Amino acid sequence: MKNNPIGIFDSGVGGLTVWKEVQKLLPHEDIIYLADSKNCPYGSKSHNKIISLSVDNVDFLINKNCKLIIVACNTATAAAIETLRKNYSIPFIGMEPAIKPAALNTNTGKIGVLATKGTFEGRLFKETSKKYTERVHKVIQIGDGLVELVENGETNSSKAELLLKKYLDPMISAGVDQIVLGCTHYPFFLPVLNKIIPNTIQIINPAPAIAEQTKTILKEKKLDSNKSIPEYQFYSSGEKKVFQQLLKDISKIDYTINPIN
Ligand code: DGL
Repeated sequence: MKNNPIGIFDSGVGGLTVWKEVQKLLPHEDIIYLADSKNCPYGSKSHNKIISLSVDNVDFLINKNCKLIIVACNTATAAAIETLRKNYSIPFIGMEPAIKPAALNTNTGKIGVLATKGTFEGRLFKETSKKYTERVHKVIQIGDGLVELVENGETNSSKAELLLKKYLDPMISAGVDQIVLGCTHYPFFLPVLNKIIPNTIQIINPAPAIAEQTKTILKEKKLDSNKSIPEYQFYSSGEKKVFQQLLKDISKIDYTINPIN
């Protein structure tokens, strides 16, 4: 079991921003990444639909003997993590918008959060908000259309810049000093985000913290691998070209993307 792979899934290519941090921090672990690009975006789908898609993704990864699964999608975590933890015996790591560190770090008392509709509507966001941000002013914004831009490989386009400006300018004007990227697709916009967002504002990408948490859980459960050369596999239920390009951009390697059947 120790040397079995870690599974990672997302509605599409966004979770690669998590894959990048996990393989960097855990260089002995095999990883299988599944992008459900055929059904992307999840953010506007019903709660029950997101649960059933997440269960399909998990079944696929469990059939490949994954020992732990990272739900590298804030939207899927919001809808499905409780069901997954209830129905499967392996450990799950979920994403949630990093409003806790933002609330702890803010000097202006104002934070911005960009995420999907599904994430904002989830119980997790409401509970975390209540717990950590009651005395902080939150400017929240649904990132409609952003996931689709990433899936189409348009992360550096003028369309992306315009849409991000539209979403972020009100946060910046409101005086936030922390902006939380509450969707794993959004770190792909970092080059554009760094142009739009003044450097006095901290951009929070939770992916490194998720990798740390994965390391802790693997250790705790004595599931950490001792392989010397890790193997990485990639699967997509939909398009593969953008996937391959984005993966090449972050890893410098031209991996093969496999179909799911
Ligand atoms: N990467 C997903 C997330 O973190 C995107 C959601 C979607 O497909 O709408 O929420």
